[in-house]
Amino acid sequence: MELASSPLSTPTTGGGIPRTASPGSQVLDNGTNIGSASGRKASFGGGALGQNFAMERRGSAESGPARRGSRRGSGVVMTPGGAPVVYHTRTDEDREFPHAEKKTIADLLRKYESLLTLTPQRMRMIVHAIEETLDKGLQKDGQIVPMIPTFVFGWPTGEEVGEYLALDLGGTNLRVCLVDLQGHGKFEVTQTKYRLTEEQKQEDGQKLLDFCAECLDNFITNTLGRTENDPMLPLGFTFSYPCSQLRIDHGELIRWTKGFGAPNIEGHDVAAMFASSLKRLNVNAELTALINDTTGTLIASNYVDPNTKIAVIFGTGCNAAYMETAGNIPKMSSVGLEADQGMAINCEWGAFDSFDHQHLPRTKYDIIIDESSNKPGEQSFEKMIAGLYLGEVFRLILCELIDSGDLFLGQNTYKLEKAYAFDTAFLSLMESDPTDELLTIIGVFSHFFGIETTLEERQFFRQLAVLIGTRAARLSACGIAAIVSKKGYLEKGCAVGADGSLYNKYPNFANRVHAALVDIFGEKGKRIVTHHAEDGSGVGSAIIAAMTKARKEKGFYVDY
Ligand code: BGC
Repeated sequence: MELASSPLSTPTTGGGIPRTASPGSQVLDNGTNIGSASGRKASFGGGALGQNFAMERRGSAESGPARRGSRRGSGVVMTPGGAPVVYHTRTDEDREFPHAEKKTIADLLRKYESLLTLTPQRMRMIVHAIEETLDKGLQKDGQIVPMIPTFVFGWPTGEEVGEYLALDLGGTNLRVCLVDLQGHGKFEVTQTKYRLTEEQKQEDGQKLLDFCAECLDNFITNTLGRTENDPMLPLGFTFSYPCSQLRIDHGELIRWTKGFGAPNIEGHDVAAMFASSLKRLNVNAELTALINDTTGTLIASNYVDPNTKIAVIFGTGCNAAYMETAGNIPKMSSVGLEADQGMAINCEWGAFDSFDHQHLPRTKYDIIIDESSNKPGEQSFEKMIAGLYLGEVFRLILCELIDSGDLFLGQNTYKLEKAYAFDTAFLSLMESDPTDELLTIIGVFSHFFGIETTLEERQFFRQLAVLIGTRAARLSACGIAAIVSKKGYLEKGCAVGADGSLYNKYPNFANRVHAALVDIFGEKGKRIVTHHAEDGSGVGSAIIAAMTKARKEKGFYVDY
């Protein structure tokens, strides 16, 4: 079967996930983690700032030599026929590039500090509002933060065993794994990753799922060398988008997030659609469970450390899961579960404050990101935290300063003016630059954007990255604190399994979350400790498939 995208196939062994909490575990990875930023963003342009740019560009082109306050670097003019023509200007070829002055930079820093800093008091207000929202989601169906019962009943025993397939459709890659659960918290993983193209994220939903099925088939046949004569393996499908579930192998996509926009799938049962792809393409696997990455992370982390009570993902998107008891889920009362029956809840907290925008201190940059996204009004909390958006906040601030004539006068800035051109990974790089001269930042600006910078500017950029990264970490802490407070975990303390590129790769992210928890709760906040989670979408999905199988064998199968 020919694949639309080729697998990332450099063989490596034992890379990937050296899970410290489970010393006996091993990961056999025959794929390469590209961790690429390339899969960003579905639709942009047309936002408020974008329109201003177009107007100013025209203004400066028509009115001759630029003044301070007008854009001089580059721009686009429209021909009478309506075709865009890009121009680049430099007013004085012989002069040094004018750069921002020290005093201006100090003033700007103060301005952005006050825009992006969250005080402990403000955080406590946000925590309170999130907690109320989480409660509402448990009361009734159809709330903004949907608090989805996942039909994962209680914690794993740690003794789940067997071979399971796991398929993980996240924000950037598609990953296929064979997980061999060996009991005693041990496991072995063989995996392959496939790159998703921007087009695939926007093409027909069934076609996207067919592609997932083709990759799975390719993995089963070519990597595992299995044939139709081998017994069918159970499959856990980690589909990390909000899906309301009526049972474990069902999930109606409420809405796409993270820039996906594939039509004909929102409002449909993704599990049934995927099962039909498997059948049509004759793939030797049986869909047992549809799970969210946070639920998988919760279960996988608890499998190796039973003190883990909450799981969070801070990656391309952001979200959390925790274990609730059925008695606290009024909207499920008709199902008739025992009040103390555990039920993992996929919060989908990224949707907090969507549409109403009453609680979060959104800046104009957040508003531009929202309004120019393919889902305006939605995922407000996520859009201020997640890796998909942080680089864009930084870029929009720089564009504002280019427009006001404070930065890069006379330089060609067109590369920086492209929406989502400034990847969040650049912020990580800037924050971790170890040199006095900030050579990494020189590299980022000159290599990727063809822009020269002074040391003062680079120091400013780094500070700006710190502000944006810290705001994201402090908002993330508000979400964790809301669950801690709701579940009364503060007195005893608990571990929080955390995963995602932001948590794993952004310097100081975890420390900042911990500091914010102390700002919110005082010294007791130190009892809430995040740690790098187990592989939720691979191992977690397999454990859930195993738990489901065991449950079904006991005749415990619940429909909403
Ligand atoms: C999705 C969640 C997911 C999170 C992290 C969000 O955009 O709505 O389902 O858990 O991203 O991947």
